[in-house]
Amino acid sequence: MPAPKSSHRRVFVTRPVADAALRRLAETARVDLWDDDAPPPHDELVAHLRECDAVLSMVSDRLDAGAIAAAPRLLAISNLAVGVDNIDLTAATRAGVAVGHTPGVLTETTADLAFALMLAAARRVAEGDRFVRAGRWRMWTPRLMLGRDVWGATLGVIGWGKIGQAVARRAGGFGMRVLYAAHPGAGAGTGAGFAAGANPAPVAKTRRRDGGTLPSGRTLSSGRPGSSGEVTAFGAPAARGAPSAERVELARLLAEADFISLNVPLTPQTRQLIGRRELAAMKRGAILVNTARGAVIDQAEMVEALRSGHLGGAGLDVTAIEPIDAADPLLKLPNVVITPHIGSASHATRLRMAELAVDNILDVFAGHLPRHCANPAVKLRVPRSKAPRAMGAKNKSAGP
Ligand code: GLV
Repeated sequence: MPAPKSSHRRVFVTRPVADAALRRLAETARVDLWDDDAPPPHDELVAHLRECDAVLSMVSDRLDAGAIAAAPRLLAISNLAVGVDNIDLTAATRAGVAVGHTPGVLTETTADLAFALMLAAARRVAEGDRFVRAGRWRMWTPRLMLGRDVWGATLGVIGWGKIGQAVARRAGGFGMRVLYAAHPGAGAGTGAGFAAGANPAPVAKTRRRDGGTLPSGRTLSSGRPGSSGEVTAFGAPAARGAPSAERVELARLLAEADFISLNVPLTPQTRQLIGRRELAAMKRGAILVNTARGAVIDQAEMVEALRSGHLGGAGLDVTAIEPIDAADPLLKLPNVVITPHIGSASHATRLRMAELAVDNILDVFAGHLPRHCANPAVKLRVPRSKAPRAMGAKNKSAGP
């Protein structure tokens, strides 16, 4: 492991991520890695933030105003995610802390999962799998496991950002009609909800307080929208087979779509965007797919709509509380397919996300905004130049 060039920089990485990305980070900073897939308890997170110049965080780390206020030398929060709803952006901006995130690199992978969930819910894939494994498949019968056709159906995409458009492109191969609606609070022209700037710029595992090593055995301690009715054809890499998509008001989308895909960021305006009224406004038998955030749906109302059959099914990668309790009523419903928040979870994409999260930190260390910055209005805090004092013995990781 090369010695960090600026050993006074210290970065807390809250979960094991791609080794290659961590190694690159460790060339510049001392990396304190929480070497466990379970998140650091909030007080541990806060204790580490106090000592660090940057944190490479996950969607399940709560970076609230208190945590940010308790981190006097923190310059950057770099989230391994496109969503930043786990971070108090206002507090970060006020404190001069840049917030980086990882849009773009996870778009297609997340859209793949949205489509997988849509197909699985429509064609009862998980239910059929459980049926066969339980030894209940006795014969072929013409009425066994009848589902819904995806081909030729109408897809409604709520949220016309990168991922929503990527889901819509996939619909082209299935001969679907695509409607889309921007969500409340969407930025003009993107539907993305927050800006992603383009700013060019130039590992002690601490989990378990017992220090640690990289998976490889090395120690890192050293260190479009427009008006309603508009039709758009979207471009590469979708041109092949891409359908045209019609922008409509939410009410029309809800009334006409056979499948609805939620692709919005979680913001105050999108929280519980889909509640009792919206569910009731959907076509009977519609299938709802959520790869965004659980809190975009009123989950209790969704359970009722699924129970009554008004909502024909759901494909969910996210839930209101994560992880969902095994006793949750949602898990008792056969017409629900559910995955554990794995939208971007492919080997290649998680590597790209880790590399980008590191780039975002290195940008800040070089005095720039992160290349993908969720709070581009931030005025970066002036870094403290003096070396940090050593962390407490229990969290100790060797210095560079
Ligand atoms: C995952 O949920 C992300 O926001 O990237």
